[in-house]
Amino acid sequence: MSESGSIPRVYSRIAGTGSYLPAKVLTNDDLSKIVDTSDEWIAARTGIRQRHIAADGETTGDLAYHAAVRALQSAGVEPDELDLIVLGTTTPDLVFPSTACLLQHRLGANGCGAFDVNAACSGFLYAISVADKFIRTGDARTVLVVGSETLTRMVDWSERTTCVLFGDGAGAVVLKADAETGILSTHLHADGAKKELLWNPVGVSVGFKENEKNVGVRIQMAGSDVFKYAVKALDSVVEETLEANGLDRHDIDWLIPHQANLRIIEATAKRLDMPMERVIVTVDKHGNTSSGSVPLALDHAIRSGQVQRGQLLLLEAFGGGFTWGSALLRY
Ligand code: ACO
Repeated sequence: MSESGSIPRVYSRIAGTGSYLPAKVLTNDDLSKIVDTSDEWIAARTGIRQRHIAADGETTGDLAYHAAVRALQSAGVEPDELDLIVLGTTTPDLVFPSTACLLQHRLGANGCGAFDVNAACSGFLYAISVADKFIRTGDARTVLVVGSETLTRMVDWSERTTCVLFGDGAGAVVLKADAETGILSTHLHADGAKKELLWNPVGVSVGFKENEKNVGVRIQMAGSDVFKYAVKALDSVVEETLEANGLDRHDIDWLIPHQANLRIIEATAKRLDMPMERVIVTVDKHGNTSSGSVPLALDHAIRSGQVQRGQLLLLEAFGGGFTWGSALLRY
């Protein structure tokens, strides 16, 4: 209890961030040698210039590990201080154990809770929202939140409408319980009715169908429908976030969006009346890394010195499911 008799409020505050991109880079020009496309087309429609590709044998868990080590170092937190690991991914190393469990053991954080969250490209927003609830309720004080993906493992490299969009990468955040303001609110949504517009329709229970024509372990997407739905859904979650916190759109210092397509990012920035100088854009460097995207952009923004302590950040993402969500936080 505080001196006034009220229970002091606990916030989840970012103590450190980290990210990791695999060494191999595939440029748009490289892709134009594989499929009928061009740097000009890809850059104009998506803003992407290159993507990173995991090496043979390099897994989502490996990418997560490197990002997590960097986040722990920047937070000054030892692995055995962690109470929980929540990892967003749609490309886990194994069906089970979860990639979070594999990561926990590799970090030497054995004993704490660890689980994966699958919300496709919104995976990190879902993961950080869950982590925030654990901290606010007092069930955890120090939580590692990771978004990690090897999406290129399920890309059809002969399909130009999808293969130009995706890349591999990971980002991580250490959250600590703090009396000072951190995460102010998170907002999660999904619409399962739209599953066939963006999906990979194979799995354990329905069976893997690698040999059937047109159906394999591959991402399938109705690009322009996804584009339209993403813009609308992100508009609405941004409005919802501002309203829930009694804020004006001009109060936001930085927009840190899902890095899927520059045109979707620009549409959200326009809605917020936000100049692009206050929007973190990294999609040109790594394409759409799904759950890895928002924490990669966040880590870049912090390490480059753009984002400063005390500033108000709006994070948002949209992905397969459909799923979408936001997090508003004071850094
Ligand atoms: N290179 C050259 N031409 C191409 C390529 C390519 N890589 N891909 C498609 N085209 C051609 C099409 O065949 C079509 O040709 P046609 O007019 O002769 O039929 C033409 O370009 C236009 O195709 P559209 O699909 O209408 O192009 P659009 O402007 O919608 O851009 C894109 C496609 C980039 C996929 C866009 O719809 C998009 O970004 N959608 C959002 C999807 C997304 O980001 N998904 C990621 C997961 S969800 C998320 O994270 C938000």
